[in-house]
Amino acid sequence: MSTQSTNVVLLIGTIVIISLMKPDCTAVTEEYNGFKLCVTSRRGIKDLSHRNLTDVPSNLSNNTQYLDISYNLIQSLNGAQFSRLFQLCFLKVTHCGLQEISPTAFSHTPALKFLNISHNNLHVIPDISVKQLEILDLGNNLFTSYRIPESFQNFSHLDLLSIGSTAAPSVSYSDFDPLMNVPVHHLVLGAGIPWKNYESGSLAKMKSLQKVSIRASFCGNFRMFENVLVDLNVTKAKSLRFIAFFPDNCQVNGDPFENLRTMPFIQNLTIENTWINSSFMEMFLKNVWLSSVYDLSFVNMTYNEDTPDGFQFHTLNHTINVSSVTFNGINHYQYKYPTFNMSFEAFSRLTYLKFSGTGMNILPCRVMSALPSLETLDLSDNLLSESGFWWILCSHTSVFPKLRQLSLSKNRFRSLSIISQKMNEMKTLESLDLSFNSISLDGDCSWPAGMKELNLGNNNLGNSVFQYLSSNFERIDLSKTGITAITQEALSCFPKLTHLKLSSNSIRVIPADLSLPTLLSLYIDQNAITSIPREALGGVPKIQTLSAGSNPFVCSCDSHWFVADFNKSLLLDWPLNYTCSTPPSFAGLQLSEFKTSELSCETGLQVAVALPVIIVISAAIGLVFYKYDGVWYTKMLWVWIRMKRRGKKCSNLMKNASFSHHAFISYSHQDSDWVDSQLLPSMEGAGFSLCTHERDFVPGEWIIDNIINCVESSYKTLFVLSRHFVQSEWCNYELFFAQHRAISVQRDSLVFILLEPIPADCIPKKFLRLRSILRQQTYLEWPNNERKQQVFWRSLKSMLHMADKSVALKDVALAISDKVALLTDDL
Ligand SMILES: *[C@@H]1O[C@H](CO)[C@@H](O)[C@H](O)[C@H]1NC(C)=O
Ligand SMILES: *[C@@H]1O[C@H](CO)[C@@H](O)[C@H](O)[C@H]1NC(C)=O
Ligand SMILES: *[C@@H]1O[C@H](CO)[C@@H](O)[C@H](O)[C@H]1NC(C)=O
Ligand SMILES: *[C@@H]1O[C@H](CO)[C@@H](O)[C@H](O)[C@H]1NC(C)=O
Ligand SMILES: *[C@@H]1O[C@H](CO)[C@@H](O)[C@H](O)[C@H]1NC(C)=O
Ligand SMILES: *[C@@H]1O[C@H](CO)[C@@H](O)[C@H](O)[C@H]1NC(C)=O
Ligand SMILES: *[C@@H]1O[C@H](CO)[C@@H](O)[C@H](O)[C@H]1NC(C)=O
Ligand SMILES: *[C@@H]1O[C@H](CO)[C@@H](O)[C@H](O)[C@H]1NC(C)=O
Ligand SMILES: *[C@@H]1O[C@H](CO)[C@@H](O)[C@H](O)[C@H]1NC(C)=O
Ligand SMILES: *[C@@H]1O[C@H](CO)[C@@H](O)[C@H](O)[C@H]1NC(C)=O
Ligand SMILES: *[C@@H]1O[C@H](CO)[C@@H](O)[C@H](O)[C@H]1NC(C)=O
Ligand SMILES: *[C@@H]1O[C@H](CO)[C@@H](O)[C@H](O)[C@H]1NC(C)=O
Repeated sequence: MSTQSTNVVLLIGTIVIISLMKPDCTAVTEEYNGFKLCVTSRRGIKDLSHRNLTDVPSNLSNNTQYLDISYNLIQSLNGAQFSRLFQLCFLKVTHCGLQEISPTAFSHTPALKFLNISHNNLHVIPDISVKQLEILDLGNNLFTSYRIPESFQNFSHLDLLSIGSTAAPSVSYSDFDPLMNVPVHHLVLGAGIPWKNYESGSLAKMKSLQKVSIRASFCGNFRMFENVLVDLNVTKAKSLRFIAFFPDNCQVNGDPFENLRTMPFIQNLTIENTWINSSFMEMFLKNVWLSSVYDLSFVNMTYNEDTPDGFQFHTLNHTINVSSVTFNGINHYQYKYPTFNMSFEAFSRLTYLKFSGTGMNILPCRVMSALPSLETLDLSDNLLSESGFWWILCSHTSVFPKLRQLSLSKNRFRSLSIISQKMNEMKTLESLDLSFNSISLDGDCSWPAGMKELNLGNNNLGNSVFQYLSSNFERIDLSKTGITAITQEALSCFPKLTHLKLSSNSIRVIPADLSLPTLLSLYIDQNAITSIPREALGGVPKIQTLSAGSNPFVCSCDSHWFVADFNKSLLLDWPLNYTCSTPPSFAGLQLSEFKTSELSCETGLQVAVALPVIIVISAAIGLVFYKYDGVWYTKMLWVWIRMKRRGKKCSNLMKNASFSHHAFISYSHQDSDWVDSQLLPSMEGAGFSLCTHERDFVPGEWIIDNIINCVESSYKTLFVLSRHFVQSEWCNYELFFAQHRAISVQRDSLVFILLEPIPADCIPKKFLRLRSILRQQTYLEWPNNERKQQVFWRSLKSMLHMADKSVALKDVALAISDKVALLTDDL
């Protein structure tokens, strides 16, 4: 194997110490994880930080899921404060000067999963017990020992425990005993102060540790640190992170990381927020190269060249296991470019290199060809431009022979046409990130055919950007590029498109004719979209991920289908980021809580819903109608109404008339039982005077004369119709009607009672008149049911009530026939 070393000089552009302010990425993630774990509704979020509160507000609504009361003046927590918050899942009380927490503080909040009480003045680790707790941050407090309370045994779901105190410089053997069977995967220990004592074996008790972050320095006593490593080797932790390991004035004696060589489980090693001298770096890397570590990171380090020739690392006669190296944030202590002198040949396994936040403005020549296996190169957040990346003095045989992903984000690149041409040198390149530069569209682009992904986010490009892209692109990120409109025509140039990001633009409308049959993921959040047309999403049949939140949605029927029908599992940001913006009455309402009735929005549905409802109701009414003889009652009602109307009309007329009987009753003698037992007692009992032929006819007179006399002296003529009557008696009356045509026309004077149903065909053909009367005239049907009989009698009585017996029938009959138009008669 070649042991030739290649001198590579990294040219770092900044002269002065650059102070890079980087957020603590892991912490942000934990907090975000907790947020995602807990919050299902925007209403459940209460951020009351920075309010000068002296106590937990007592008027918090009982649906609070997320409560942030950091940066207040709350000194103690107790159960009463949280008694109503049974849904509380995320609680953050940092920077409050908290001094004590009662053991029952969280006994009413069984759902609590995330608790951050770091940066307070707790003098003892609180003796709390919350079964569901997954993330607990007790960092940066003032307790004097790391002795964990017994109650922590009960944290059966605890995954991340962060614990640290600026007043606790030592760890004792039994401190972590209660955590022996708690499934903590990630432990963050310490508060950045130097440790005075560490009793061997303490950390080894936590069997489930996978990830350990130690925030402490061991200056002057690195043997202690070696013991820590031995214990972490026992826990088989895979990932180690040392934060603030060397303060600026730390004296390193010996080789603190020598144990790394015999720790077979370590995979990831991170050194963070620390001062590193080039002399230490040489020693440290020798250990790493001989270890099992494959992911090595330096985050926010201050680099000091204390060796006269810079960093020297010549001899390497074995390949190293490290395949991923990250430098994220380097502050240069010296006012000069650092010098690296090391062999790259040994890095045959290096696939990932990140060199970010270093101030680099010129890419060292040999990097392009000296890292044969490099697949991902991240040079984001530097000061590179076209001329610095393709430095004019360099000449190379091969340019990143295996590079697939290149990030040049957050640099100073300008020309898209030049970049596109240069990328053709990188034969295997698939993905390029040019976000956060100053790219302009300055001419035609010729992208490498194999390139599939381009990120141009956060460059000011405009609507024409699509013309400058390759039709081979599968993933395009155009977030925040000043796009105001998209058309299907522009998008149809990308037949292989699977991922499209258009977040943070000013797009108003999603084209309804959108048709991207291969698209899997679409981001259109933070635009000016008011609704998402159903047809547009019909044009992306394979969509798996959609992000469309933070748009000014109109809460109307346009949004209804989206709320009601769209498969929400495809939405990354549902429901929190979807809120109504108009109409004003709904502004701020979470879209998921916008309930408009489906009925008011969909016509087809209206019919579909209304029809069965109407049918059911009709059927129900019909059934009730049938069951309770609605037909009979309706007929009665009809009779009643007509009578009342007629009654009014005729009342004047009748005022002066007089009769000797209210009614003449005509019936077949076969029905005389009914007449004698029912009709007469009922009516006469009610004060009506009735004339019947059996009782009142004058003997000796011809029956017809008798009838006529009786009829003439009665206000009404009442026929009791039955089959017998129709067949035997009717002929008499036919004659009568023939003679007294005028009277017969005044139909109101005739009342028909149907004792039994008489089908029309039972009536002999010759009795046309009767048929016609039964068809036109209302008649009363005799019911069998007793309740109905009541109604029957009442109807009958009111029919006869209109009678007044003071005027002779004749006059009345004449008067009536004068007033009432003659109806055409079938006779
Ligand atoms: C707790 O809050 C502090 C202060 O905001 C933050 O730095 C830390 O990351 C938080 N802890 C977790 C686990 O999120
Ligand atoms: C809190 O108090 C400080 C000074 O006592 C004041 O400057 C600040 O405005 C107050 N903050 C709020 C939110 O009331
Ligand atoms: C709770 O009370 C405080 C005053 O004590 C008030 O400012 C706040 O609006 C109240 N919050 C609710 C949700 O009622
Ligand atoms: C939550 O509070 C509301 C009123 O703010 C009340 O109607 C409801 O019953 C409470 N829920 C429970 C479970 O206490
Ligand atoms: C753990 O919880 C059980 C009941 O769930 C309780 O009896 C026991 O005292 C708790 N242990 C500690 C150390 O608090
Ligand atoms: C780590 O553990 C392995 C066995 O699991 C052992 O061989 C090795 O010596 C240990 N290393 C240290 C530094 O304790
Ligand atoms: C780094 O070098 C400086 C001298 O340049 C020395 O004072 C300091 O102790 C060294 N620090 C470490 C961590 O080696
Ligand atoms: C970077 O590390 C230094 C110590 O070397 C520390 O003072 C500073 O706060 C760190 N910066 C960030 C952003 O963590
Ligand atoms: C390097 O990795 C290989 C497997 O990838 C492994 O067998 C070997 O033990 C590792 N080297 C060290 C020093 O752990
Ligand atoms: C270790 O590093 C790899 C990348 O090299 C990463 O994917 C993995 O998440 C890291 N593991 C931990 C526990 O940080
Ligand atoms: C590798 O180099 C070391 C010195 O750094 C030497 O001790 C060792 O014998 C060499 N091994 C081989 C295989 O050449
Ligand atoms: C929700 O919107 C905010 C602000 O627009 C954004 O920062 C956040 O990432 C979005 N959340 C999701 C899950 O997309």
